[in-house]
Amino acid sequence: MGHGAWGMGHWLLIHLPHPFLPSARLVVWQRAFCLLTFLYHGKKAYRLIKSMLTRIKDLAVKLAPRLIEIRRHIHSHPELSGQEYQTAAFVAGVLSSSGLHVQEGVGKTGVIGELQGTSQNDRLLAIRTDMDALPIQEGTNLEYASRADGVMHACGHDVHTTVGLGTAMVLSQVAGELGGKVRFLFQPAEEIAQGASWMVKDGAMENVSAILGVHVFPSIPAGSIGVRYGALTAAADDLEILIMGESGHGARPHEAIDAIWIACQIITALQQAISRTQNALRPVVLSIGKINGGRAPNIIADKVQLLGTVRSLHPETRAHLPNWIENIVSNVCHTYGAKYQVNYRQGVPSVQNDYVLTQLLQSAAEEAWSSDRVQVLPESSLGSEDFSIYLEHVPGSMFRLGVGYKERIINHPLHHPQFEVDESAIVTGVVTMAYAAYKYCQQNF
Ligand code: NI
Repeated sequence: MGHGAWGMGHWLLIHLPHPFLPSARLVVWQRAFCLLTFLYHGKKAYRLIKSMLTRIKDLAVKLAPRLIEIRRHIHSHPELSGQEYQTAAFVAGVLSSSGLHVQEGVGKTGVIGELQGTSQNDRLLAIRTDMDALPIQEGTNLEYASRADGVMHACGHDVHTTVGLGTAMVLSQVAGELGGKVRFLFQPAEEIAQGASWMVKDGAMENVSAILGVHVFPSIPAGSIGVRYGALTAAADDLEILIMGESGHGARPHEAIDAIWIACQIITALQQAISRTQNALRPVVLSIGKINGGRAPNIIADKVQLLGTVRSLHPETRAHLPNWIENIVSNVCHTYGAKYQVNYRQGVPSVQNDYVLTQLLQSAAEEAWSSDRVQVLPESSLGSEDFSIYLEHVPGSMFRLGVGYKERIINHPLHHPQFEVDESAIVTGVVTMAYAAYKYCQQNF
């Protein structure tokens, strides 16, 4: 938009009679003219963007009944991680009928839909949504409740998929004016933290310059958006500790090495050490969720296996955790004569939202909705999200889509058998995502 203004200024400079050229007055006039032209073009560009927002909103509102139908269809037919065959076929069908270039079987059961803008702009924005459900028996009385026994969309991935499809449908209508390319990633197997790696391995991130994601959030009312600068979710690592003692008679523990008692010491030592040796402002949560060991009430156990999860928000904290744990285990075992093995497996890293892209989401949401419907979330979650795998390749940001019912006192949390979604949130999600994508392509943020 600046080119026209300065170009006109130069034209004047060249075509005015020579004697005027050195005049300071001319320079002032010339600058004033450029400024006015710049303001004019700036205003025009602003109007253009505003009208795109209105168009996106109109398209999304018009699509709303179809989107609710889509969401209910997916909700009724949930599929577990890595088995999203029907969902993927359905998604591919909707994308092709909207004119996107579709690739199936990316990352096993994932789908990619690509929208080619008309511009030569190299920017390729990825929009990621996930498609898998959970092994939970649905406990709602909804008419479109799950028809699959023991499987439920209790984490809102049905809504994410619908928002992804809605955004693709809306943007396909304005593709000619998009000014960039958008690649929609419909990812499988998020709940087992595998799908993102599968997609990346199959080339889903090739040529991508940035990525946006969305996750529903029942503690924010539908119609609202939450953005978060920095850490959104935690790194989630798996921990296995094996303690090898020596068996003996329950009546004569001094002749044995009691692996159960040592396991108890280790658990206590780890929990106390967190509060005494870790920076309280850089959270670490270590939960032992499973213990295996022992044979009978009167036999001292010679082996115990502890299984747990370790959550942290800061990469530096995470990096020292394996050694820190091993030291504690080693010291306790050494004191009581047991042998040990610590297996620390790094799972997904923390989702670290990029500052500029979070600003993009915030400004898109604030322009689309009033600013009191956009919350800057003050806290991270210690849950995990494999969206972080994409962030190892490009900057990105994931926002929270409010899905709570305003009028209800209780909105059940994610992964609850009675988790429900206020479906009016779907349009909010689609408009926010589509408009943020447009602003990204226009580099207008
Ligand atoms: Ni989820």
